[in-house]
Amino acid sequence: MVSVAIMGHGVVGSGVAEILLTHKQKLFSSLGEEIYIKKILDLREFPDSPIADRFTKDFEEIISDLEIRVVVEVMGGLNPAYDFVKRCLTAGKSVVTSNKELVAAHGAELLAIAKEKNVNFLFEASVGGGIPIIRPMSQCLVANNVNEVAGILNGTTNFILTKMIEEGMQFEDALKLAQELGFAERNPAADIEGHDACRKICILASLAYGRHVYPEAVHTEGITKITLDDVKYAEAFGCVIKLIGRVKKLENDMLDIIVAPMLVPNKSQLANIDYEFNGIMVRGDCTGDVVFYGKGAGKLPTASAVVADVVDCCKHLKARKYLYWADGDGKNVISYADSVSKMFVRAACTSEEAQGAFGKITKIAENDGVLVFATEELRFGEFEEKAKQLEVLSAIRIGDL
Ligand code: HSE
Repeated sequence: MVSVAIMGHGVVGSGVAEILLTHKQKLFSSLGEEIYIKKILDLREFPDSPIADRFTKDFEEIISDLEIRVVVEVMGGLNPAYDFVKRCLTAGKSVVTSNKELVAAHGAELLAIAKEKNVNFLFEASVGGGIPIIRPMSQCLVANNVNEVAGILNGTTNFILTKMIEEGMQFEDALKLAQELGFAERNPAADIEGHDACRKICILASLAYGRHVYPEAVHTEGITKITLDDVKYAEAFGCVIKLIGRVKKLENDMLDIIVAPMLVPNKSQLANIDYEFNGIMVRGDCTGDVVFYGKGAGKLPTASAVVADVVDCCKHLKARKYLYWADGDGKNVISYADSVSKMFVRAACTSEEAQGAFGKITKIAENDGVLVFATEELRFGEFEEKAKQLEVLSAIRIGDL
Protein backbone atom coordinates (compact mmCIF):
# COMPACT_ATOMS: atom_id res chain seq x y z
CA MET A 1 0.00 0.00 0.00
CA VAL A 2 1.22 3.50 -0.84
CA SER A 3 -0.10 6.37 1.28
CA VAL A 4 -0.77 9.67 -0.43
CA ALA A 5 -2.05 13.08 0.62
CA ILE A 6 -4.11 15.52 -1.41
CA MET A 7 -3.72 19.24 -0.77
CA GLY A 8 -6.93 20.98 -1.92
CA HIS A 9 -10.49 19.66 -2.25
CA GLY A 10 -11.87 22.01 -4.92
CA VAL A 11 -12.98 21.02 -8.42
CA VAL A 12 -9.84 19.05 -9.34
CA GLY A 13 -8.97 17.84 -5.80
CA SER A 14 -12.41 16.36 -5.21
CA GLY A 15 -12.12 14.70 -8.64
CA VAL A 16 -8.78 13.15 -7.66
CA ALA A 17 -10.24 11.75 -4.42
CA GLU A 18 -13.29 10.49 -6.33
CA ILE A 19 -11.21 8.65 -8.96
CA LEU A 20 -8.87 7.15 -6.34
CA LEU A 21 -11.91 5.80 -4.47
CA THR A 22 -14.14 4.75 -7.39
CA HIS A 23 -11.30 3.31 -9.51
CA LYS A 24 -9.51 1.59 -6.64
CA GLN A 25 -9.61 -1.85 -8.24
CA LYS A 26 -8.57 -0.58 -11.67
CA LEU A 27 -5.61 1.27 -10.17
CA PHE A 28 -4.66 -1.73 -8.03
CA SER A 29 -4.43 -3.84 -11.21
CA SER A 30 -2.08 -1.30 -12.77
CA LEU A 31 0.15 -0.75 -9.74
CA GLY A 32 -0.10 -4.04 -7.90
CA GLU A 33 -0.64 -2.10 -4.68
CA GLU A 34 -3.41 -0.06 -3.10
CA ILE A 35 -3.22 3.74 -3.22
CA TYR A 36 -4.51 4.93 0.15
CA ILE A 37 -5.61 8.53 0.69
CA LYS A 38 -4.24 9.17 4.16
CA LYS A 39 -4.88 12.92 4.42
CA ILE A 40 -6.72 15.66 2.56
CA LEU A 41 -5.75 19.23 3.33
CA ASP A 42 -8.47 21.87 3.08
CA LEU A 43 -9.62 24.71 5.31
CA ARG A 44 -13.29 23.87 4.65
CA GLU A 45 -15.37 21.09 6.25
CA PHE A 46 -16.65 18.18 4.15
CA PRO A 47 -18.85 16.20 6.58
CA ASP A 48 -20.60 14.32 3.75
CA SER A 49 -17.38 12.93 2.26
CA PRO A 50 -17.01 9.12 2.60
CA ILE A 51 -13.53 9.86 4.00
CA ALA A 52 -14.50 12.90 6.13
CA ASP A 53 -12.32 11.61 9.00
CA ARG A 54 -9.15 12.01 6.91
CA PHE A 55 -9.46 15.77 6.34
CA THR A 56 -7.03 18.11 8.05
CA LYS A 57 -6.49 21.86 8.10
CA ASP A 58 -2.86 21.47 9.17
CA PHE A 59 -0.10 21.00 6.55
CA GLU A 60 2.29 19.86 9.32
CA GLU A 61 0.29 16.63 9.62
CA ILE A 62 1.24 15.82 6.03
CA ILE A 63 4.87 16.92 5.99
CA SER A 64 5.66 15.11 9.24
CA ASP A 65 3.98 11.84 8.23
CA LEU A 66 6.74 9.53 7.01
CA GLU A 67 4.23 7.06 5.56
CA ILE A 68 3.01 9.65 3.03
CA ARG A 69 5.30 9.17 0.02
CA VAL A 70 3.34 11.10 -2.63
CA VAL A 71 1.63 14.46 -2.18
CA VAL A 72 -0.87 15.89 -4.68
CA GLU A 73 -1.03 19.68 -4.87
CA VAL A 74 -4.33 20.83 -6.40
CA MET A 75 -4.86 24.03 -4.41
CA GLY A 76 -3.96 26.33 -7.30
CA GLY A 77 -2.27 29.73 -7.00
CA LEU A 78 1.27 30.35 -5.81
CA ASN A 79 0.72 30.75 -2.10
CA PRO A 80 0.93 28.61 -0.12
CA ALA A 81 1.29 26.01 -2.90
CA TYR A 82 4.90 26.96 -3.70
CA ASP A 83 6.04 26.74 -0.09
CA PHE A 84 4.19 23.48 0.57
CA VAL A 85 5.45 21.79 -2.61
CA LYS A 86 9.03 22.87 -1.97
CA ARG A 87 8.87 21.53 1.58
CA CYS A 88 7.38 18.21 0.43
CA LEU A 89 10.10 17.70 -2.21
CA THR A 90 12.82 18.73 0.23
CA ALA A 91 11.42 16.23 2.74
CA GLY A 92 11.81 13.47 0.12
CA LYS A 93 8.18 13.14 -0.92
CA SER A 94 7.23 12.99 -4.60
CA VAL A 95 4.79 15.69 -5.69
CA VAL A 96 2.11 15.71 -8.38
CA THR A 97 0.48 18.99 -9.32
CA SER A 98 -2.08 20.37 -11.76
CA ASN A 99 -0.97 23.91 -10.91
CA LYS A 100 0.29 25.54 -14.13
CA GLU A 101 0.89 28.85 -12.38
CA LEU A 102 3.28 27.10 -10.00
CA VAL A 103 5.11 25.14 -12.72
CA ALA A 104 5.40 28.17 -15.01
CA ALA A 105 6.76 30.34 -12.18
CA HIS A 106 8.97 27.85 -10.31
CA GLY A 107 9.27 24.70 -12.45
CA ALA A 108 13.04 24.84 -12.93
CA GLU A 109 13.70 25.27 -9.21
CA LEU A 110 11.24 22.54 -8.16
CA LEU A 111 12.60 20.11 -10.77
CA ALA A 112 16.12 20.78 -9.47
CA ILE A 113 15.04 20.01 -5.89
CA ALA A 114 13.29 16.84 -7.04
CA LYS A 115 16.47 15.78 -8.86
CA GLU A 116 18.65 16.47 -5.84
CA LYS A 117 16.32 14.58 -3.50
CA ASN A 118 15.84 11.74 -5.99
CA VAL A 119 12.05 12.08 -5.98
CA ASN A 120 9.54 12.91 -8.70
CA PHE A 121 7.83 16.18 -9.51
CA LEU A 122 5.15 15.43 -12.13
CA PHE A 123 2.60 17.83 -13.67
CA GLU A 124 0.81 16.14 -16.57
CA ALA A 125 -2.48 17.89 -15.66
CA SER A 126 -0.92 21.36 -15.76
CA VAL A 127 -1.30 21.54 -19.57
CA GLY A 128 -4.27 20.26 -21.56
CA GLY A 129 -6.33 18.91 -18.63
CA GLY A 130 -7.07 15.27 -19.48
CA ILE A 131 -4.93 15.24 -22.64
CA PRO A 132 -1.59 13.44 -22.35
CA ILE A 133 1.04 15.95 -23.50
CA ILE A 134 3.86 16.28 -20.94
CA ARG A 135 4.64 12.56 -20.93
CA PRO A 136 4.37 12.19 -24.75
CA MET A 137 6.66 15.18 -25.25
CA SER A 138 9.21 14.11 -22.67
CA GLN A 139 9.19 10.43 -23.64
CA CYS A 140 7.49 9.41 -26.89
CA LEU A 141 8.72 12.36 -28.97
CA VAL A 142 12.12 12.66 -27.33
CA ALA A 143 13.95 11.61 -30.53
CA ASN A 144 12.69 14.72 -32.34
CA ASN A 145 13.98 18.22 -32.59
CA VAL A 146 10.77 20.12 -31.98
CA ASN A 147 10.36 22.90 -34.53
CA GLU A 148 7.13 24.27 -33.14
CA VAL A 149 4.40 23.70 -30.56
CA ALA A 150 1.07 25.45 -31.10
CA GLY A 151 -2.23 24.92 -29.43
CA ILE A 152 -5.57 25.91 -28.08
CA LEU A 153 -4.56 25.70 -24.46
CA ASN A 154 -7.43 27.31 -22.57
CA GLY A 155 -10.81 25.61 -22.33
CA THR A 156 -12.67 28.63 -20.97
CA THR A 157 -11.81 30.99 -23.82
CA ASN A 158 -12.39 28.28 -26.41
CA PHE A 159 -15.77 27.59 -24.80
CA ILE A 160 -16.64 31.32 -24.89
CA LEU A 161 -15.51 31.77 -28.51
CA THR A 162 -17.42 28.66 -29.61
CA LYS A 163 -20.62 29.77 -27.84
CA MET A 164 -20.30 33.23 -29.45
CA ILE A 165 -19.72 31.78 -32.92
CA GLU A 166 -22.17 28.87 -32.87
CA GLU A 167 -24.97 30.27 -30.72
CA GLY A 168 -24.46 34.04 -30.88
CA MET A 169 -24.18 33.99 -27.07
CA GLN A 170 -22.95 37.15 -25.36
CA PHE A 171 -19.40 37.05 -23.98
CA GLU A 172 -20.48 37.54 -20.33
CA ASP A 173 -23.14 34.79 -20.48
CA ALA A 174 -20.69 32.32 -22.00
CA LEU A 175 -18.11 33.14 -19.32
CA LYS A 176 -20.68 32.65 -16.56
CA LEU A 177 -21.58 29.25 -17.99
CA ALA A 178 -17.89 28.25 -18.17
CA GLN A 179 -17.53 29.22 -14.50
CA GLU A 180 -20.59 27.16 -13.54
CA LEU A 181 -19.16 24.16 -15.39
CA GLY A 182 -15.91 24.46 -13.42
CA PHE A 183 -13.63 25.34 -16.36
CA ALA A 184 -12.71 28.90 -15.43
CA GLU A 185 -9.95 29.99 -13.10
CA ARG A 186 -10.89 31.47 -9.70
CA ASN A 187 -10.09 34.84 -11.25
CA PRO A 188 -11.38 34.46 -14.82
CA ALA A 189 -9.15 37.32 -15.97
CA ALA A 190 -6.41 34.66 -16.04
CA ASP A 191 -8.41 32.88 -18.75
CA ILE A 192 -9.77 35.74 -20.85
CA GLU A 193 -6.59 37.85 -20.73
CA GLY A 194 -4.51 34.87 -21.90
CA HIS A 195 -2.39 34.36 -18.75
CA ASP A 196 -3.49 30.75 -18.26
CA ALA A 197 -2.59 29.88 -21.87
CA CYS A 198 0.69 31.76 -21.38
CA ARG A 199 1.63 29.63 -18.36
CA LYS A 200 0.89 26.49 -20.37
CA ILE A 201 2.92 27.47 -23.44
CA CYS A 202 5.78 28.39 -21.08
CA ILE A 203 5.68 24.86 -19.64
CA LEU A 204 5.64 23.29 -23.11
CA ALA A 205 8.43 25.57 -24.36
CA SER A 206 10.58 24.77 -21.32
CA LEU A 207 10.01 21.08 -21.87
CA ALA A 208 10.63 21.22 -25.62
CA TYR A 209 13.77 23.36 -25.50
CA GLY A 210 15.30 22.46 -22.14
CA ARG A 211 15.46 25.91 -20.54
CA HIS A 212 12.79 27.55 -18.41
CA VAL A 213 10.75 30.21 -20.22
CA TYR A 214 9.05 32.49 -17.67
CA PRO A 215 5.62 34.07 -18.41
CA GLU A 216 7.14 37.58 -18.18
CA ALA A 217 9.13 36.86 -21.37
CA VAL A 218 5.99 36.05 -23.40
CA HIS A 219 3.85 38.62 -25.21
CA THR A 220 0.28 37.78 -24.19
CA GLU A 221 -3.05 38.99 -25.54
CA GLY A 222 -6.51 37.73 -24.55
CA ILE A 223 -9.84 37.52 -26.35
CA THR A 224 -11.67 40.51 -24.84
CA LYS A 225 -11.28 42.66 -27.96
CA ILE A 226 -12.65 40.07 -30.40
CA THR A 227 -15.97 41.19 -31.91
CA LEU A 228 -18.68 39.33 -33.79
CA ASP A 229 -17.62 41.35 -36.88
CA ASP A 230 -14.12 39.87 -36.62
CA VAL A 231 -15.63 36.40 -36.36
CA LYS A 232 -17.87 37.01 -39.39
CA TYR A 233 -15.09 38.34 -41.66
CA ALA A 234 -12.67 35.64 -40.50
CA GLU A 235 -15.25 33.13 -41.71
CA ALA A 236 -15.46 34.94 -45.08
CA PHE A 237 -11.67 34.47 -45.29
CA GLY A 238 -11.97 30.71 -44.63
CA CYS A 239 -10.77 30.92 -41.02
CA VAL A 240 -11.93 30.72 -37.40
CA ILE A 241 -10.58 32.83 -34.55
CA LYS A 242 -8.90 30.88 -31.74
CA LEU A 243 -6.73 31.87 -28.80
CA ILE A 244 -3.39 30.28 -29.69
CA GLY A 245 -0.29 29.68 -27.60
CA ARG A 246 2.68 29.07 -29.85
CA VAL A 247 6.43 28.62 -29.63
CA LYS A 248 8.68 28.24 -32.67
CA LYS A 249 12.38 27.61 -32.80
CA LEU A 250 13.99 29.95 -35.33
CA GLU A 251 17.05 29.17 -37.43
CA ASN A 252 19.30 31.12 -35.06
CA ASP A 253 18.02 28.94 -32.16
CA MET A 254 16.02 31.82 -30.69
CA LEU A 255 12.42 31.19 -29.62
CA ASP A 256 9.46 33.06 -31.09
CA ILE A 257 6.77 32.60 -28.42
CA ILE A 258 3.40 34.28 -28.12
CA VAL A 259 -0.17 33.96 -26.83
CA ALA A 260 -2.72 35.80 -28.96
CA PRO A 261 -5.99 35.35 -30.82
CA MET A 262 -5.20 34.15 -34.34
CA LEU A 263 -7.07 33.41 -37.52
CA VAL A 264 -6.79 29.67 -37.99
CA PRO A 265 -7.44 28.39 -41.54
CA ASN A 266 -10.40 25.99 -41.71
CA LYS A 267 -8.10 23.28 -43.07
CA SER A 268 -5.88 23.41 -39.97
CA GLN A 269 -6.17 20.55 -37.49
CA LEU A 270 -6.76 23.19 -34.80
CA ALA A 271 -9.76 24.81 -36.53
CA ASN A 272 -12.41 22.33 -35.40
CA ILE A 273 -11.44 22.17 -31.75
CA ASP A 274 -14.47 23.63 -29.97
CA TYR A 275 -16.01 24.25 -26.55
CA GLU A 276 -13.78 23.28 -23.59
CA PHE A 277 -11.67 21.01 -25.78
CA ASN A 278 -7.97 21.76 -26.23
CA GLY A 279 -5.74 20.79 -29.14
CA ILE A 280 -1.97 20.85 -29.19
CA MET A 281 0.12 20.40 -32.31
CA VAL A 282 3.75 19.37 -31.95
CA ARG A 283 5.90 19.70 -35.06
CA GLY A 284 8.77 17.25 -34.76
CA ASP A 285 11.55 16.96 -37.33
CA CYS A 286 11.13 13.17 -37.50
CA THR A 287 7.41 12.74 -36.89
CA GLY A 288 6.02 15.78 -38.71
CA ASP A 289 2.84 17.11 -37.08
CA VAL A 290 1.42 15.22 -34.11
CA VAL A 291 -1.87 16.54 -32.70
CA PHE A 292 -3.23 15.92 -29.20
CA TYR A 293 -6.94 16.53 -28.64
CA GLY A 294 -9.32 16.20 -25.70
CA LYS A 295 -10.95 17.93 -22.76
CA GLY A 296 -8.62 20.64 -21.51
CA ALA A 297 -10.60 21.57 -18.42
CA GLY A 298 -13.11 20.12 -15.99
CA LYS A 299 -13.11 18.00 -12.87
CA LEU A 300 -12.68 14.40 -13.99
CA PRO A 301 -10.59 14.97 -17.16
CA THR A 302 -8.02 16.97 -15.17
CA ALA A 303 -8.19 14.61 -12.19
CA SER A 304 -7.56 11.69 -14.56
CA ALA A 305 -4.17 13.17 -15.52
CA VAL A 306 -3.32 13.84 -11.86
CA VAL A 307 -4.14 10.26 -10.85
CA ALA A 308 -2.01 8.90 -13.72
CA ASP A 309 0.93 10.89 -12.31
CA VAL A 310 0.20 9.55 -8.82
CA VAL A 311 0.35 6.00 -10.18
CA ASP A 312 3.61 6.83 -11.98
CA CYS A 313 5.10 8.24 -8.76
CA CYS A 314 4.01 5.14 -6.86
CA LYS A 315 5.66 2.95 -9.51
CA HIS A 316 8.86 5.00 -9.27
CA LEU A 317 9.34 5.49 -5.55
CA LYS A 318 12.95 4.40 -5.84
CA ALA A 319 13.99 4.99 -9.47
CA ARG A 320 13.36 8.61 -10.37
CA LYS A 321 11.76 9.39 -13.74
CA TYR A 322 13.77 11.73 -15.90
CA LEU A 323 11.83 14.98 -16.34
CA TYR A 324 13.98 18.05 -16.16
CA TRP A 325 14.84 21.45 -17.65
CA ALA A 326 17.43 24.00 -16.63
CA ASP A 327 16.72 27.53 -15.48
CA GLY A 328 16.44 30.25 -18.15
CA ASP A 329 17.04 33.99 -18.36
CA GLY A 330 14.72 34.92 -21.26
CA LYS A 331 17.66 35.83 -23.50
CA ASN A 332 16.67 33.04 -25.92
CA VAL A 333 13.28 34.69 -26.63
CA ILE A 334 12.87 37.27 -29.43
CA SER A 335 10.85 40.47 -28.92
CA TYR A 336 7.25 40.17 -30.09
CA ALA A 337 7.94 43.16 -32.36
CA ASP A 338 10.32 40.91 -34.36
CA SER A 339 7.80 38.10 -34.75
CA VAL A 340 6.66 37.74 -38.38
CA SER A 341 3.12 36.96 -39.55
CA LYS A 342 0.41 38.03 -41.97
CA MET A 343 -2.21 40.29 -40.38
CA PHE A 344 -6.00 40.41 -40.72
CA VAL A 345 -7.13 44.03 -40.52
CA ARG A 346 -10.44 45.87 -40.31
CA ALA A 347 -9.93 49.58 -40.92
CA ALA A 348 -11.98 52.63 -41.84
CA CYS A 349 -10.15 53.25 -45.11
CA THR A 350 -10.16 52.66 -48.86
CA SER A 351 -8.20 49.96 -50.70
CA GLU A 352 -5.83 52.65 -52.00
CA GLU A 353 -5.11 53.88 -48.47
CA ALA A 354 -4.51 50.31 -47.26
CA GLN A 355 -2.14 49.67 -50.21
CA GLY A 356 -0.42 52.98 -49.52
CA ALA A 357 0.34 51.80 -45.98
CA PHE A 358 1.05 48.08 -46.55
CA GLY A 359 1.79 47.59 -50.26
CA LYS A 360 0.26 44.35 -51.48
CA ILE A 361 -2.96 43.41 -49.64
CA THR A 362 -5.67 40.76 -50.10
CA LYS A 363 -9.09 42.36 -49.90
CA ILE A 364 -11.67 40.32 -47.95
CA ALA A 365 -14.67 42.69 -47.82
CA GLU A 366 -15.67 46.34 -48.00
CA ASN A 367 -18.80 47.70 -46.29
CA ASP A 368 -19.91 51.17 -45.18
CA GLY A 369 -16.43 52.67 -45.44
CA VAL A 370 -14.79 49.74 -43.61
CA LEU A 371 -12.21 47.68 -45.48
CA VAL A 372 -11.32 44.17 -44.34
CA PHE A 373 -8.02 42.87 -45.71
CA ALA A 374 -5.00 40.66 -45.10
CA THR A 375 -1.42 41.91 -45.33
CA GLU A 376 1.60 40.00 -46.57
CA GLU A 377 4.03 38.69 -43.93
CA LEU A 378 5.72 41.40 -41.92
CA ARG A 379 7.36 41.99 -38.52
CA PHE A 380 4.79 42.98 -35.90
CA GLY A 381 6.78 46.13 -35.08
CA GLU A 382 6.62 47.12 -38.74
CA PHE A 383 2.88 46.41 -38.79
CA GLU A 384 2.29 48.66 -35.77
CA GLU A 385 4.26 51.47 -37.40
CA LYS A 386 2.42 51.24 -40.75
CA ALA A 387 -1.00 50.81 -39.12
CA LYS A 388 -0.66 54.31 -37.64
CA GLN A 389 -1.48 55.65 -41.11
CA LEU A 390 -5.00 54.11 -40.96
CA GLU A 391 -7.93 54.11 -38.55
CA VAL A 392 -7.58 50.45 -37.56
CA LEU A 393 -10.64 48.88 -35.89
CA SER A 394 -9.07 45.50 -35.30
CA ALA A 395 -5.91 43.64 -36.19
CA ILE A 396 -5.45 39.91 -35.64
CA ARG A 397 -2.50 37.69 -36.55
CA ILE A 398 -3.09 35.05 -39.22
CA GLY A 399 -1.68 31.78 -37.94
CA ASP A 400 0.51 29.61 -40.13
CA LEU A 401 -1.06 26.54 -38.55
N1 HSE B 1 -9.14 27.59 -16.62
C1 HSE B 1 -8.45 26.57 -17.33
C2 HSE B 1 -9.04 26.43 -18.71
C3 HSE B 1 -8.58 25.28 -16.56
O1 HSE B 1 -10.11 27.00 -18.95
O2 HSE B 1 -8.44 25.81 -19.58
C4 HSE B 1 -7.69 24.18 -17.07
O3 HSE B 1 -6.34 24.53 -16.96
